[in-house]
Amino acid sequence: MGIDAIWTALAAHHRSVAARPILSLFDAAGRAAEFSAALLPDDGPDGPVLLDFSKTNIDATAMGLLLDLAAASGLESRREAMFTGAPINETEGRAVLHTMLRGTPDPALPADWVQDHLVTRARMYEFARAVRSGDFAGPAGRFTDVVNIGIGGSDLGPAMAVPALAPWHDGPKAHFISNVDGAQARDVLRHLDPARTLVLIVSKTFTTIETMTNAATVRDWLVAGGVADPAAQMVAVSSAGERAADWGIPATRVFGFGDYIGGRYSLWGPVGLALLLAIGPERFDDFLNGAAGMDRHFRRAPLARNLPVLLALTGIWHHQICGHATRAVLPYDQRLARLPAYLQQLEMESNGKRVAMDGSDLRRPSGPVVWGEPGTNGQHAFYQLIHQGTSAVPCEFLIAAEGNDPGLEHHQRLLVANCLAQSEALLRGRTLAQARALMAARGLSGDELERQARHRVFPGNRPSVTLAYERLTPAMLGRILALYEHRVFVEGVILGINSFDQWGVELGKELALAVEPLLAPGADDSGKDGSTRLLLGHLRRR
Ligand code: F6P
Repeated sequence: MGIDAIWTALAAHHRSVAARPILSLFDAAGRAAEFSAALLPDDGPDGPVLLDFSKTNIDATAMGLLLDLAAASGLESRREAMFTGAPINETEGRAVLHTMLRGTPDPALPADWVQDHLVTRARMYEFARAVRSGDFAGPAGRFTDVVNIGIGGSDLGPAMAVPALAPWHDGPKAHFISNVDGAQARDVLRHLDPARTLVLIVSKTFTTIETMTNAATVRDWLVAGGVADPAAQMVAVSSAGERAADWGIPATRVFGFGDYIGGRYSLWGPVGLALLLAIGPERFDDFLNGAAGMDRHFRRAPLARNLPVLLALTGIWHHQICGHATRAVLPYDQRLARLPAYLQQLEMESNGKRVAMDGSDLRRPSGPVVWGEPGTNGQHAFYQLIHQGTSAVPCEFLIAAEGNDPGLEHHQRLLVANCLAQSEALLRGRTLAQARALMAARGLSGDELERQARHRVFPGNRPSVTLAYERLTPAMLGRILALYEHRVFVEGVILGINSFDQWGVELGKELALAVEPLLAPGADDSGKDGSTRLLLGHLRRR
């Protein structure tokens, strides 16, 4: 079957099963085992990762067609092209090689790229050891704090991973300044000692207005705090070493990376420096190795048992076939509180496109809106809509068997119970008959019983996917993030999208530069639309 025929068959199959209760699929013995998959090889001490997608309306026919779709999209050759350094980011003519940064580089990769990466990593580790030991120190001695100045892919990765691995922190405390809103710089810096703060300017381009504005503010703060040579405690993470040199940062403290590492895929290299400083090289290696394990699985496992592929296919089913507009990511792991924000960039900047690789209009919806918050907090906020709102929201739960907090095991049991209860409630719902019985048991009758019962009906039949893992360790975090990266890749290939450019962020940046001068008193804003002029008038006065 050709691709178009597979899409058509999937849509027809969906129409034929749309009214079927997901719960009824469990009448068949073996449903859960058949519609789940585990990452078992080289599990190591961190144990397996289980992906359960049985609480979805995907049946054997749907899965067969989805797998056909993946194969017909050329996924396997595209995947090989990525791992072997072909320029699959076609609009920018670049390779996509974040996988080279973790594990053993493929010997087929260009030797100079591999060499650059290995040299940079050795330099990063040496630098991290020096900072952590106090051999590289500030005017007042050992650095107690690190400020990471960056935005988007130069912020979200470390800002997510640093709190995720809090139990392994034994280095300087990391802080993050990303927003051009001066409030963030002010609030972060207020608590820090300039003489004991190491500053990382993280910007692939070293031109991003937010980052360069914040970097200048932090440099002024160092000087105002009595630091005679601010550049001496600044580090640049950038592909634009010459621009870092303009800041007076010596080459020994510039950590670069090739244009084959996209911003939102860059946590594994120098952009992960704040994490490396917090947890040290040995743990950082565990983190990289965990991701490398997922890379091997993604590259070798058959599509039908391949976790990133299966996760992607659930996404395609829910968004492009069933038409669910959004996807909630719900980590039942407080230390993954920033994962939804990280995944928002990873998924929406990668697959939020309107044209296919060849520039033709996309023939299917692009990637969905991704959002979320940790459980159980979300349960007391937006889960009302997830359970009883009129639109279904496919949910992706993440839950660990074990916590990292000895003595608080009863918290973990409650966390697990809540996570499982939510996916069960979404699946089963509560019928009107059950709601009536509940109200009758509470002593209601007649019209009042009927009225109250209707508010307590849950439609159920709402899909969810659960990722269950042993414990959030550096290696496990690496695996989980690599799983999501490859999921985005698979979805992009199936949609025919280039997941590695981001032209959609350009226009707003350009216009911001043009708007800023219009905030000056008396500026001529006649070229602007009426709404923008009204707002300029209002905001200019303040
Ligand atoms: O505006 C989007 C973006 O280009 C992201 O893709 C990127 O991660 C971020 O800005 C930061 O860019 P840079 O690292 O060059 O400062």
